[in-house]
Amino acid sequence: MEFTEKKIVQVFSELAEANRILAGITSLMDRQPPVCWMITSAAWGEGKTTLTAGLGLLAARSGDKRVLAIDMNWYSPGLHPCFGLTPAWDLQQYAQDKNLIGRIRPSGIPHLDVLTAPVLKESGENSGAEYAGLAREILNQARQMYDVLLVDTASVFPANRRMTDPVVIGSACDATIMVVLTGVTPRQQVKQAQVRLESSGAKVAGVVVNNWKSRM
Ligand SMILES: Nc1ncnc2c1ncn2[C@@H]1O[C@H](COP(=O)(O)OP(=O)(O)OP(=O)(O)O)[C@@H](O)[C@H]1O
Ligand SMILES: [Mg+2]
Repeated sequence: MEFTEKKIVQVFSELAEANRILAGITSLMDRQPPVCWMITSAAWGEGKTTLTAGLGLLAARSGDKRVLAIDMNWYSPGLHPCFGLTPAWDLQQYAQDKNLIGRIRPSGIPHLDVLTAPVLKESGENSGAEYAGLAREILNQARQMYDVLLVDTASVFPANRRMTDPVVIGSACDATIMVVLTGVTPRQQVKQAQVRLESSGAKVAGVVVNNWKSRM
C-alpha cells in the first residue's frame, strides 16, 4: 500500500503515545544533537514502519531539523512504499565507496529524507559481522549529516541470525522505542524482547502503544 502524507497522519493519530515520544526526542535533541532512535517491536506487524514514517513526518514538520528515516529491516523492508520509493542501492558498492549521501533520497516531504533498504543479493554473501559493521558505518555517517535519525528495524522475535537484528543495531543507536500492538502480543514476549535488547546494550527509552484493531 502506498502511503500519502494524509494516510500517515491518519494512521499515526491512532498511535496513542506518539506525540509524547516525539516531545521526548525533541527535548533530547535540543540538548544533544544529533539523535538516533531505533524503532522495534517484540513481534512482526506491530506498527514499527508506520511509527517510523509518522515520527519522521512530525519531526520534519518543525522545519528546523534535518530528519532521516532509515530502513534497516533489510530482509523485509517496508519503509520505501510509505514514500513511493523503490530500493535501488547496492550494499557491496557502498562497502567500497562509502558514499552514503548518494544513496539517500528525498521523501517528498520537506526536511525529511529516506535511506531505503539496499537491494540484497543472494544470502550468504556477507557475514553477520560484516553487515553489522556496515550498519554502524551508515549510522555514523548519517549522524554527520542529520539532526534526527529514525531507524526502522525488524522485530526482536523470531530471533534473526542476520545483522539486521535490532538486538545488534540497538547498541549503535542512542535510544530504542518499542511498539506494542495491544491485545495481540503477549506481555511476556514484550518483556523478553526488552531484556534481550537491554542485555545487548540498547537503551529502551519507552513503549508506544498501538491500539490498532486489524480487520484481518
Ligand atoms: N494504528 C494503525 N492504524 C491503521 N493501520 C495500522 C496501524 N498500525 C499499523 N497499521 C497497519 O498494519 C500493517 C503493519 O504495520 P507496519 O508495517 O507499520 O508494521 P511493522 O511492525 O513495520 O511490520 P513488520 O514487522 O512486517 O516490519 C500495515 O498495513 C499498517 O498500515
Ligand atoms: Mg516494518
